[in-house]
Amino acid sequence: SLLLFVVVFIITADLVKNRRPVGFPPGPRALPIVGNIFTWDQSRPHEKLMELARTYGDVFSLRFGQKWSVVLNGFDTIKEALLTKGDSMVDRPKLALQEEVTGGLGIIISNGDIWKQQRRFALSTLKYFGFGKTSLEHVILDEFRHCAEEFRGYKGKKPVNPHLIINNAVSNIICHLVFGHRFEYGDEKFRKLMLLFDKALQIEASIWAQLYNSFPLLMRLLPGPHQTLKQIWGDVKSFIREELNQHKENWDSTERRDYIDCYLQEIQTNKGQEGNTFDEENLIMCVLDLFVAGSETTSTTLRWSFLYMAKYPEIQENVQAEIDRVIGQSKQPSMEDRANLPYTDAVIHEILRMGNIAPLALPHSTNKEVQLGGYTIPKGILIVPNLASVLFDKKEWETPLEFNPGHFLNEEGKFEKRAAFIPFSAGKRLCLGENLARVELFLFFTSFMQHFTFSMPAGVEAVMDYRAGITLAPKPYEICVKPR
Ligand code: HEM
Repeated sequence: SLLLFVVVFIITADLVKNRRPVGFPPGPRALPIVGNIFTWDQSRPHEKLMELARTYGDVFSLRFGQKWSVVLNGFDTIKEALLTKGDSMVDRPKLALQEEVTGGLGIIISNGDIWKQQRRFALSTLKYFGFGKTSLEHVILDEFRHCAEEFRGYKGKKPVNPHLIINNAVSNIICHLVFGHRFEYGDEKFRKLMLLFDKALQIEASIWAQLYNSFPLLMRLLPGPHQTLKQIWGDVKSFIREELNQHKENWDSTERRDYIDCYLQEIQTNKGQEGNTFDEENLIMCVLDLFVAGSETTSTTLRWSFLYMAKYPEIQENVQAEIDRVIGQSKQPSMEDRANLPYTDAVIHEILRMGNIAPLALPHSTNKEVQLGGYTIPKGILIVPNLASVLFDKKEWETPLEFNPGHFLNEEGKFEKRAAFIPFSAGKRLCLGENLARVELFLFFTSFMQHFTFSMPAGVEAVMDYRAGITLAPKPYEICVKPR
């Protein structure tokens, strides 16, 4: 009977402690101790949340372990939260696993002065390398040539899984930006680095990470893949540190070859200044963040693009006809061509919308009490912006669930921006690499369409189902890549 008393006591104490705060958004009933952990659907998170929004409204709450979260749905709500009231939701929540791995450094999960300084520096450095004589445009076109050579090897006869080649190509753009050089696709060190990233991101997207962040004390004691994460990220950091040491050996303070050079300069400039956050530990985390946020995302979008083109051959033909007419077959595409390629541009936008690769953005957190949708959300609550609910919002799109480049074309066939197009999120935490991603997608996609035709192997239907991991990615597929 003592045991029974203890159990009843714990459950009652939990129920009292974890009651929904007054004025808080409604939500499904939370169980004692675990809360709504079983309401979460790891295989289709955004769809499940959109279903719950139909019952509880666009602003509703869920509890994971001891932590309350508020989920935001629909264009109007998300616009109000991230733009109008963005200042009160600009922070990231402190999640145990991410905190342990990063020490709160870098850009993606940092807050306060670290975030402000590191983000500002990253934005201005990306801009510096994005335009002008050091332009990344040439780097991307050069990488396409390597990539194309790999695909040509298959001669369009043998179906190929494009995953690895595309991952390598896109990661090489970040390598070029931060390290100042690319790697050959067969390079042993590069392959190891790619594998480490793959493994770490798989664990971070798994239920183990979710459990760790909900029950950190318990999970620290239990075995599981989460125990190896620190080691894997440690290996990645050692790799980056080696590159950093090489840079320091032959550093010339007047030269800005890449991100690391610029950062070393910034460390010098800021030395001894009050509130300075520029140091080697932050440098390593920022580089790691650029890889984490900048590789898998663009790579996944390109893999969706091939699949959509194979699924809709008539759209692919239209894109190719436009490119042939505007650029021809001999000249390489450039960003200046974009204004003259409205259909191609619309197709890329529609791939980003339907691909929906970051459906829940990254979690935000309230840094003060905020009113939203008639509810009061206290400070320190985890906020989940359901971007998918905007990209598929019935009030915003003519045919929300259909692949339709017309969403971005006006009656005269000119490209038309849409306010509800927010795959990169919105507000102060807006994707830092949006410009780079757009340049990469435009140059890679138009180059592929200029030189190749994608089709499914005979008798195989294109499967548009996603697999939810760190991004929503197409299920692994093989495709015929035929030189034109
Ligand atoms: C954050 C989308 C490519 C760097 C984000 C967020 C989204 C996103 C939804 C979360 C924003 C929020 O919290 O509200 C995408 C998509 C991409 C892409 C769809 C490609 C198709 C890139 C690239 C880079 C990059 C190429 C880097 C070079 C970042 C960083 C953050 C971020 C550093 C964290 C920003 C912060 O916390 O202040 N991205 N991204 N992303 N992205 Fe991207």
